[in-house]
Amino acid sequence: MGLWARRTRACSKRRPGSSKCDSQFFHAGLVAATFLILLGLSLLYLPDPLALEPATAAPEVTLLIWTHPFGRKRPLPDCLVRYGVDGCVLTDDPRAYASADGVLVHHRDVVGGNAELPPEVGRPSGQKWIWLNYESPSHTPSLWRLEGRFNLTMSYRTDSDIFLPYGYLVLKHGSGQLLSEPSRTSRPGFVAWVVSNWVDSQARVAFYYQLSQYIQVDVFGRAGRSIPEGSGSVVQLVKHYHFYLALENSQHRDYITEKLWNAVLAGAVPVVLGPSRKNYERFLPPEAFIHVDDFPSVKALARYLAELRRDPARLQGHLRWRTGYGLRQPTFWGEHYCTACRVLRKNLGHTQVVHNLTGWFES
Ligand SMILES: *[C@@H]1O[C@H](CO)[C@@H](O)[C@H](O)[C@H]1NC(C)=O
Ligand SMILES: *[C@@H]1O[C@H](CO)[C@@H](O)[C@H](O)[C@H]1NC(C)=O
Repeated sequence: MGLWARRTRACSKRRPGSSKCDSQFFHAGLVAATFLILLGLSLLYLPDPLALEPATAAPEVTLLIWTHPFGRKRPLPDCLVRYGVDGCVLTDDPRAYASADGVLVHHRDVVGGNAELPPEVGRPSGQKWIWLNYESPSHTPSLWRLEGRFNLTMSYRTDSDIFLPYGYLVLKHGSGQLLSEPSRTSRPGFVAWVVSNWVDSQARVAFYYQLSQYIQVDVFGRAGRSIPEGSGSVVQLVKHYHFYLALENSQHRDYITEKLWNAVLAGAVPVVLGPSRKNYERFLPPEAFIHVDDFPSVKALARYLAELRRDPARLQGHLRWRTGYGLRQPTFWGEHYCTACRVLRKNLGHTQVVHNLTGWFES
């Protein structure tokens, strides 16, 4: 039995489409009220990456961007103009090392990449090194080499010192791309999957093989049909589908990537394989996604998707939540730099060392 089949919920234990399941959706209105309360809690529970501190008297800080992630040079943003972050100077000039308040180091470039760590010799006292990483632990080698060198962590993990996820929901009055109840009539497609890195040993590939035995799955990307060129093209593509397979390359705590948010933006219901359902529920409403663990078998999941496709009213049960929300997807990497700089400025004068990077990130 696969990873996705480990857990079952009361609803799916019964025959999908049974009255118990239906009545759960029927009571969505009632649940919605409760949900609004829970929502307030869950937004509090998820650290708010946007929370900007009021203007302080803290001096201006300089953050040195040690490498451009993966060697791709991009212009550095003006943090105030672009993100309303005050008192931050970004630079990628290594000569600033001797005076920078912080140094942002992207993991992949200094471990197995072309760059070295900044030198310990000449490291100004009070300077903070920030470890930056958006890959999952499965793709983050040699963490042990970095023990005791860094002062702050920055990643998609909610318990990072500097937390910025791949995407997050905001209440509609906040900033972000507004979501709305999508029209179903314009969706000829059933289930889509975009995959660029096909590895047979990954759980998501095994899941796809099983699912495609029961229902039609259109595969795009390097391993399937080509995606139309242009920015936002995945979202444009997924807009033609009812469901999108948001299958992470590896399963780790909080590791929920743009795959999920592309589906949400496109108005397709995401079918997710990643961390636990509970973990996803920190990021979005419980009915906003279908988790592979919700069903006792892939066959039962396939049957559920087929039923929803035939029954627009039930499908809406997975989409109605959208009207209350906007979606923010931080842009790589400018927003990350400015967020790091903001926290650096806030923490000026505090001392901290990351002693157990491996133990923490791999837990
Ligand atoms: C940063 O970490 C280093 C260990 O690599 C430590 O010596 C230094 O005191 C720390 N600095 C601050 C400001 O926390
Ligand atoms: C490092 O962290 C892990 C997970 O939190 C913990 O199990 C382990 O004992 C820690 N190791 C040290 C040396 O503190």
